Amino acid sequence: MKNKSVKIGRNDDCPCGSGKKYKNCCRNEKQEISIRDEYKNRYGVILKTPEQVAGIKRAGDLLMSIMNRVEKMIKPGLKTDDINTFVHEETIKAGGICAPLNYRGFPKSVCVSINEVICHGIPGERVLEDGDIVNVDLTPILDGYYADASRTFFVGTPGADAKKIVAVAAESLKRGMEALTPGATLGDIGHAIQSYAEGCGCSVVREFVGHGVGIDFHEQPQVLHFGKPGKGLPLVPGMVITIEPMINLGKKELHVLEDQWTAVTNDGSLSAQFEQTLLVTQDGYESLTPYEL
Ligand code: MF3
Ligand code: CO
Ligand code: CO
Repeated sequence: MKNKSVKIGRNDDCPCGSGKKYKNCCRNEKQEISIRDEYKNRYGVILKTPEQVAGIKRAGDLLMSIMNRVEKMIKPGLKTDDINTFVHEETIKAGGICAPLNYRGFPKSVCVSINEVICHGIPGERVLEDGDIVNVDLTPILDGYYADASRTFFVGTPGADAKKIVAVAAESLKRGMEALTPGATLGDIGHAIQSYAEGCGCSVVREFVGHGVGIDFHEQPQVLHFGKPGKGLPLVPGMVITIEPMINLGKKELHVLEDQWTAVTNDGSLSAQFEQTLLVTQDGYESLTPYEL
């Protein structure tokens, strides 16, 4: 006998027996599955399940507990290698792994970037000095899940330039996060950051970008910190991305030192950065590495 498939209308009772209308029940789930497939197959973006989100959040909790203790250590005279030792030991103690260590040959467990260093500073013998600004970027892996976040701290008493660049970088991340609304696109994030930071007379680094994160260190999509409203991939619930604008007090151009990692401003001006791991939700976002900005 020929199988006559019956078409279910949007307003019919859902065949799963839930008592809800089909459109509010399994039809919707089917759509969600197709969005998941589309983002994976077309864009390489892995939308996270609630279980994966819970895992990334646990990694984020560990990250923030270490970050809060690093904050208390920051003072003039501290060697950057002492931050590395602390982060490494505390991560291991908690059952985690430091993702930076041996990542594409990176030799240490954390990035520590002082003053004109934009990102990827390698901890070593350099000592923090009064008036410095220092970014600490942590990426623990816990039970296979990655969280990625950074903050820029003042060392001792900041001067006017230090205060300005740290404030602008923090507000840049905040504006980027506030762009995470239903229907928004990646371009909206970049535009929110770029228009604010440039409006303050600062510049936005182009060479390094935010990224998908959670199952791996750097996943799709790339999250540019500059761009045009409405352009780029639409945000959908289940996306987990970082936003991590690097903002320079002077010009945006940079070079990488001979160690192949340390990125510094060409004009020697100060650079600051803040980063959080962010889940896109139905009505906005949730930070999985939350802290005040
Ligand atoms: N944590 C950085 C980021 O935000 C990446 C550092 S890569 C490393 O994406 F190898 F330098 F650790
Ligand atoms: Co990152
Ligand atoms: Co990072």
